[in-house]
Amino acid sequence: MEDLVSGLALHWQLQCTPEEGYTVQTKCVSDRSRGIRRMPVQERWDRDGQKLGQGTFGVVWREKCTSGPSTGKSRAVKQIFKNFGSPSSSSKVLSTELSVIMGFSDKAYRDYFVRSFGWYDTKDFLYITMEYLPLGDLSRYLKDPLPEAQAASITLQVLEGLNFMHQSKLTHRDLKPNNILVQHAGPCWWVKISDFGTSKRMDTATLCSNVGTVVYQAPEVRGVVKLNDAAGGNQLLSPAVDIWAVGAIAFRLSTGRVPFEDLLSLCRYVDHGESLSLVDGTSEGFNTFVAKLMAPLPHDRPTASEALADSCLSLSTSELSTRPDHPTTAPGEKSISAQELTEDASAQWPPSEQVTERPPYLFSSAIDASHG
Ligand SMILES: Nc1ncnc2c1ncn2[C@@H]1O[C@H](COP(=O)(O)OP(=O)(O)O)[C@@H](O)[C@H]1O
Ligand SMILES: [Mg+2]
Repeated sequence: MEDLVSGLALHWQLQCTPEEGYTVQTKCVSDRSRGIRRMPVQERWDRDGQKLGQGTFGVVWREKCTSGPSTGKSRAVKQIFKNFGSPSSSSKVLSTELSVIMGFSDKAYRDYFVRSFGWYDTKDFLYITMEYLPLGDLSRYLKDPLPEAQAASITLQVLEGLNFMHQSKLTHRDLKPNNILVQHAGPCWWVKISDFGTSKRMDTATLCSNVGTVVYQAPEVRGVVKLNDAAGGNQLLSPAVDIWAVGAIAFRLSTGRVPFEDLLSLCRYVDHGESLSLVDGTSEGFNTFVAKLMAPLPHDRPTASEALADSCLSLSTSELSTRPDHPTTAPGEKSISAQELTEDASAQWPPSEQVTERPPYLFSSAIDASHG
């Protein structure tokens, strides 16, 4: 599949040999002080039995390094079955996923997206290594409604990441709490967007096998707004589908409920202009903001940058910036300090890497395909 992988993703190919339950990785290490250039060293990464997630096409495992320079570090590895469609479509989908995750793994994006450390493959599987976020994904934290300031803060962070994606002419298309990982839990949330692959696969085989995702899908994706009703272009690929999803996530965060339990209630909302109501205690400004994100017609929704400029977000989150609280951990999680998390996440990042002042937009040529 190398011929289909963009130069950017190819750059991040790792030398790994997967064995039963562990992986041997060979990497080159230079030691400037001793004048040693690119000496090969081996690391052993053991799958520690912790399955972090299971999707339609693969599994996400946690691995711990038990020998070599990264000993003691953890990482997440997404193992994806390669041959899920025709050979050409599956290769294309996987190479797009790789290009996207590798592009957004630039250090400049580290606050917004889950970073990858590189990838490797075998005949049947593609493996994507990632920073491991012990607090898991946002779906764990949805039992009770969050205070408005916290819901608004998470919404803002997701919109910031999306803004980069949309400026790179890329839509996520599968935004939902399971695809938003938690770096720090509330009240001072820090979340990151992840999983750039499923949305691509929706092109091929899985629109109907994605059970559980639909509640965050825009009306045009669910067929409630007919495509020819909407203005211009292929609306299924439009960034507006992501904006709806952010609205639905904001709704879920602040109410503890999904916005529409079934298709009928979504149809009533779209056809009869029923209003969305959040919970008592949520400001009118935030209500209006969420309703704008969830406008029934895609062209009525704001862009990510317009949404970010809405004064409601800064008003709703202002309370957080004056709070002395420190991040907490998920129920039942071992407490992990911010520093530990950061170290874990960045442990294997090439130290020579330069931080660009503003995130580069790397994708215009590689990803145009995702907009059809
Ligand atoms: N880097 C990570 N750190 C911790 N948990 C993760 C990580 N990546 C994924 N997970 C967990 O695995 C689940 C599935 O991963 P995801 O990349 O969304 O795969 P899929 O394509 O199967 O949805 C996520 O919802 C999350 O709970
Ligand atoms: Mg996912």
